[in-house]
Amino acid sequence: MGRRARVLQQVLPPSSGEPHHPASSSMPEERAEGAVAAGVVVPRWEGLPSCFEPARVPARNPHFIFNGQVLAHLQTALLMSFAVLVIGDAGIGKTALVEGLAHLAGAPLVRIQGHGHLLAHDLLGIRILRNGTTVFEEGPFALAYRNGWWVLIDELTAIPPGTLQALHAALDGAALTLPDGNVIVRGRGLHVFGTSNTAGAAAERRHHYAGNFAMNDATLGRFVVIRPPALSIPEVTTLLLRWACTSTRPSIAGTASQLATFYARARHAAFAEQSDGVPCVAYALTLRDLEALWKVYLHPVTLSQGRTRWRTVREAADATIVHRFADRDAKLVLEMLRTDVAEVSR
Ligand SMILES: Nc1ncnc2c1ncn2[C@@H]1O[C@H](COP(=O)(O)OP(=O)(O)O)[C@@H](O)[C@H]1O
Ligand SMILES: [Mg+2]
Repeated sequence: MGRRARVLQQVLPPSSGEPHHPASSSMPEERAEGAVAAGVVVPRWEGLPSCFEPARVPARNPHFIFNGQVLAHLQTALLMSFAVLVIGDAGIGKTALVEGLAHLAGAPLVRIQGHGHLLAHDLLGIRILRNGTTVFEEGPFALAYRNGWWVLIDELTAIPPGTLQALHAALDGAALTLPDGNVIVRGRGLHVFGTSNTAGAAAERRHHYAGNFAMNDATLGRFVVIRPPALSIPEVTTLLLRWACTSTRPSIAGTASQLATFYARARHAAFAEQSDGVPCVAYALTLRDLEALWKVYLHPVTLSQGRTRWRTVREAADATIVHRFADRDAKLVLEMLRTDVAEVSR
């Protein structure tokens, strides 16, 4: 059997894809001690009322599915004031998790987008000219530190490791020394979060995370690490149906669960270690891709004279995800779609 045939055989039989964990979606509820989601009480932001800025508290994401185990780890980290690094593949919900947690805690959140040219002064502040005089303008990390807001540094491994070293003392809970020599005391309520795809050089999945830095142990060691599991197929089905809550398209439940299976298998094809070490498809579908496909599927096409029709799954896939894949991979992914989604196989 040739390599491609072997690969097809490994990928095509319906399988659950990534490891599952118990379904844990539940709508948050309010209690005196804090908001409760998936059975876990999230402590309220404990900052000073004078530092509270409601506009900085992330809006509720009504579709977010919390995982009880992940929330329990986050609860511990909050109570212990540990900095938290959420590690997971692209699109697994790292940013949405921290934003969802901040919403539950009612915490003002500053989100800093990590990138390869971020320098310490972008985080801490810089001397600028204002009205003819030089003043020191505090950067977003310094502002959050002073006010006790939560701070999320997204895509930590996109940031040059040397930049992150400027935060080590602050991560240790010490006062923060700014580049102008001023010292600010850690504000009450502050919690530091980071996200990244991997902790290290991502050697095993280098092509997925090209361009990222290996995080040094001195930085990594200052965070507790949480690795949220991928949503299970039933959870992805739930999510698809939540996303569809305002759609008028009838009878979508079956397609939602079939698409959830397809999604799990397509990701499996990108991440599973194949016998010769080469991934079957070079791109890993994300929830963002699935959301785009689903949006198109749920959106009617306008025809002449005010008539409308619904798109097929295949049309929605062609308009969104298929061209992410190069020729061979596109064929493979379409075969998976045909196997999993009844409407496409007809
Ligand atoms: N557990 C979840 N429940 C609901 N939606 C989710 C979940 N995880 C991810 N998503 C959705 O998937 C998309 C990608 O999530 P995001 O947080 O941006 O991923 P990451 O930061 O890991 O790249 C967003 O639309 C997000 O709301
Ligand atoms: Mg993100």
